[in-house]
Amino acid sequence: MKKSEADIKNLVIYGGSFNPPHLGHREAVHTALEELQPDLLLVIPDCEPPHKQMETGSPSPEERLRLCELNFAGLDGVQISDLELRRTGKSYSYDTVLQLQEIYPDARLTLMIGTDMLLSFEEWYHFEYLLQHCTIAVLARELDDEDALRQTAEQFQNQYGADICLVQHTPLPMSSTDIRGRLRARGGTDLLQEDVYREIIRKRLYGAQPELRWLREQAYTMISAKRIAHVAGCETEAVSLAMHWGEDPEAAAEAGILHDITKGLSYKEQLKLCEKYDIICDTDELKAPKLLHARTGAAMARDLFGIPDAVYEAIRWHTTGKPDMTLLEKIIYIADYIEPTRDFPGVEAVRAIAYTDLDAAMLTGLRQTIEEIREGGTEPYIDTLNACQWLEARMNERRQ
Ligand SMILES: [Fe+2]
Ligand SMILES: [Fe+2]
Repeated sequence: MKKSEADIKNLVIYGGSFNPPHLGHREAVHTALEELQPDLLLVIPDCEPPHKQMETGSPSPEERLRLCELNFAGLDGVQISDLELRRTGKSYSYDTVLQLQEIYPDARLTLMIGTDMLLSFEEWYHFEYLLQHCTIAVLARELDDEDALRQTAEQFQNQYGADICLVQHTPLPMSSTDIRGRLRARGGTDLLQEDVYREIIRKRLYGAQPELRWLREQAYTMISAKRIAHVAGCETEAVSLAMHWGEDPEAAAEAGILHDITKGLSYKEQLKLCEKYDIICDTDELKAPKLLHARTGAAMARDLFGIPDAVYEAIRWHTTGKPDMTLLEKIIYIADYIEPTRDFPGVEAVRAIAYTDLDAAMLTGLRQTIEEIREGGTEPYIDTLNACQWLEARMNERRQ
C-alpha cells in the first residue's frame, strides 16, 4: 500500500545520472532497502548533472527517467521521481532536499552516495546544509580506503555535526561508461535489466546495436518452430553473401533474423498491424495477403528493435523485389531464396551463380517466381515485374 507523505519518517534519496541505469544501481538499492529500512526510497535522475558534462548523444532526461522506471520496477518501497526534471538549470541536491523537506516535513532525509562522492563532498553546492540536515549513507566496499573514509566522516561529524552512516556494499563491477561502450559493440545484456535493454535497443539509445544472440531469441519466439530453420538458414546465407559481396554482415544478419517475424500471422492479424503502422495496402497485397508480411515485418522490426533504414528496406522488399535495389536488399532477397533448407525446382540455378553474379542470380530468381505465379493462374506482382525489367536493362547495359 502506498504511504501518504505524512507517514514517511525515513526517506532515502538516490540521485544520479543513471545513464543508463544498470544492475549495479539495482543492487545498491537492494542493499539500501535492507540496511536502511526506509519508508520510501526515491530514485531521482538528474536533469543537468552539476559536476560533469553528459556525454553527447545521451538520451533525454525523460528517456533516462523511463529507463529508471524499468530498472527499478518491482522493488517495494521504491519510487522514481521527476522532481529534478521539472526544474531548470543544474540539478543540485541542495534544491532537491529543500523541495523534499516541504513535501515530507516529518521525514528524516538520507542521501545515498558512493565513497568517492563523500571524499569530494565539500565540492557540492551548499554541502554544509546537506551535512547538517541530512543523514549521509555511504555505500562503501570493503576494499575502499577505509582510513580516508573514516577520517572524512569524523571531520564532517566534528565540524558540522554530520550524521554519516557507512553501509557495507560490494558494487557489481560495472559502470555506465563501460556499458555505453558495450552497447555500441553488441553487448550489455548481462549488465542490464531485460526491459531496460529492450527499451535501449528499441530506440537505439547510446548508438546501441543489438546482441545477435538476443535478437535471435526474440525473433524465434515470434515464429513457428518449423520456420526457425529457414530463418536461421537465411541469416547464415545473408552473412556469407554480405562478406562475399562487401556488404555489412551484421546488417545482413539483423535483416536475415527479422525478415519473417510476422509471416505466421493470419490475414486478419496482418491487417491489424497495417492499421497500427499506417500501412496502406496496394492491390497486389490485397489480392495476395502473404505479401503483407514483408511490410508488417519491416514495420514491426523497426518498432520493436529500432532497425536502421537499410535493414528496414531489405525486409520490406524481400518477397517481391523492386527496381533500384541496394546491395543489402538483393542479398536478403537471394538469401531468402537459396538458404540451405530451400528445396524447390529452380533453386539450384540461383544457388549456382549467387556468388559469381548477384544480378544474374536475382534475375533468375525473379523470372522463376513470375513463371510460377503465371502457372498458378494469377498475375505476377507489379513490383516483381518492375524489378525484373530493371535487372534486364542492367544486364543489357553490362553487355554493351
Ligand atoms: Fe518472407
Ligand atoms: Fe523467408
